[in-house]
Formats: sequence, C-alpha cells, structure tokens
Amino acid sequence: MKLFILGASGLLGRELTKKASLLHDVFSTYNNNNINLEIPNNSKIKFCFPDDLENLEKILVTERPNIVINLIGKSNLDYCEQNKDTVFKLNVILTEKISNICKKINSKMIHISTDLVFDGKDGNYKENDKTNPINYYGYTKQISEKKVLCNSSNIVIRTSLVYDLELKSSFPKFIFEKLCNGESINAFDDVFTTPILVDELSEFILRIINSNESGIFHISGNECISRFDFAKLFAKKLGFDEKLIVPCPAKSIEQKISRPKNSCLNNNKIKDTLEIKFTSIEENLDKLSKNYFRDK
Ligand SMILES: NC(=O)c1ccc[n+]([C@@H]2O[C@H](COP(=O)([O-])OP(=O)(O)OC[C@H]3O[C@@H](n4cnc5c(N)ncnc54)[C@H](OP(=O)(O)O)[C@@H]3O)[C@@H](O)[C@H]2O)c1
Repeated sequence: MKLFILGASGLLGRELTKKASLLHDVFSTYNNNNINLEIPNNSKIKFCFPDDLENLEKILVTERPNIVINLIGKSNLDYCEQNKDTVFKLNVILTEKISNICKKINSKMIHISTDLVFDGKDGNYKENDKTNPINYYGYTKQISEKKVLCNSSNIVIRTSLVYDLELKSSFPKFIFEKLCNGESINAFDDVFTTPILVDELSEFILRIINSNESGIFHISGNECISRFDFAKLFAKKLGFDEKLIVPCPAKSIEQKISRPKNSCLNNNKIKDTLEIKFTSIEENLDKLSKNYFRDK
C-alpha cells in the first residue's frame, strides 16, 4: 500500500513511519525537524503549513496514496491557549483541507485526536459518548474530528498520554529531568488518564489500516492511572527516590488551563475489533528502565 504520513517528525510520526516503512511505500512530511530514519521505502518531503499547501496538494494528487495519516498538530495546552489563531489554522483548517483533498483523490484519511475532547466528569469514555471539551486544544480537536468524519470511510483515532522508551515524550521526560536533578515533583493525584506506549499505538494504527474499518476508535492503554501514580511508578522503576514524587490535587496549583479530571478512554472497541492485547504500564516501564541502564 502507499501511505502518506503528515507530521512524521513528531513523537508518534517517527515511530509510525519507522514501522510503516517496513510494510508499505511511505511518503512522510516534516517541518522544522528533518527526519533521519535511514530506512527503505520512505520518501521525505518538507511541508510547512500554510506556505506549502499547494505543493502538498499537487504531490497528493500525483501520488494518490491509499491512506493519508494526519499527525500534524499543536497539542501543548499552554501554547494552544495562548496562540488560538495559529492553533485553529493548524488543528482545524489544515485538517479540513487534507480531508477535502483525500475526498477528491479517493484516499482514506486517518486523523489522530485526543481524550481531551471529553470534559473528564465521568471517565471510561466510549467512542459514542458525548464530547464536551473544556480547553482550547480539546475544542479544536473536537471540530477537526467532525471535519474528518464528513467522509464516512475515514477514521478518527483518539488517544491519551503517549509515552516512549527513549524519554522523548513530554511527561516522562519532565519527570526524568527533575529526578536526575534530585528535585521533587508535584504530580496530580486527581487527574487520571490512560497512557499508551508509542510503539503499541503505532502498531495498532498499522493494524487498523489493514482492516476495512471506519469511524472513531479509542487506542489508549488499559489502565486508568493518576499522573501521581504514573510518576511514582516511573521513579521506582528507574531506581530514583519515590518520595521525590509528591501527590497534590490539581486545584492546589493555580492553573490557567482547565484539564479534565478523568479523561480515561475505554478501549474495548479496538480490542474486540483487532483482537489485540495491551502491555501493562509496569511492563513498559520495566523495558524503559532496561533501555536506560543498558545505555549508561
Ligand atoms: N503526544 C501525546 O501525548 C498525544 C496525545 C493525544 C493526541 N495526540 C495527537 O497526536 C498527534 C501527533 O502528536 P505528537 O505528540 O506526535 O505531536 P508532535 O510530536 O508535536 O509532532 C507534531 C508534528 O506536526 C508537525 N508540524 C507542526 N507545525 C507544523 C506546520 N506549521 N506545518 C507542517 N507541519 C507541522 C511537526 O513537524 P516538525 O517537528 O518537523 O516541525 C511534527 O511532525 C497530534 O494530532 C496530537 O494532537 C498526541
């Protein structure tokens, strides 16, 4: 199959492109961070929105990929709140434009969304539960989902906190840097999410590509865990002093951004559809710890 991965230089993009290139012909885009994947079957294209949109459309029309996967977006909550215009253009307008091009060339589109489309009052969210974002990032992703689902063969994948084994993802990287400096970390014990390892997320995205599925899927980890428990487990597995992780309620820190308290996703639909199992956070952090001590 011919795949076109937009945003291949990001956290998810790198892993997905690496795995996809072993199975498919892949075109991948980067913006500021040139990807150096050194793998076959992967053509790289510099794409900066909005400047290069016309050129991208020409390439898509010429190449007519079977699947276009959109990973481009701004997801830093502070940035999104402070740069609404830029974020709306990237998260919504670009998504809509890609969706329209895909319709024209008859390519299926896969778009990545977030657990933050929910307000976090209930948790255990299923695909058809009512969305009600409480911050600007979630709001832009909610609209982007609608733009993509206008075409009934497209797929929206909602995921939660994505982490990796090389400490590139933001939350584990933040914890790690603090712990290395012997600094304590205040971690919310009343903010819950369903973290997923980037390898698993990428693998399951590729599995769904090979199916005839469409619509919304939640691809997130199995465990609904507080940020505090995740950070504590992380410290324990890497041999740091767990006492450096200090529990605190979200309201104890003055926050300019509203965060859902419990945005945990229910992943039963993807498990049943693909007949897959997820690895536990504990097992993944064991692997992370092995990587860390091997490289030392
Ligand atoms: N990471 C998470 O925990 C998480 C959780 C839920 C949902 N998601 C969603 O998953 C998707 C991928 O997330 P991620 O963490 O992999 O994102 P990321 O690491 O921030 O990567 C974003 C990608 O977008 C590209 N990009 C940014 N601005 C651009 C522009 N103006 N024109 C063209 N490309 C641009 C970046 O290119 P350069 O780096 O080359 O500049 C990069 O390839 C996003 O839609 C995000 O909302 C992520």
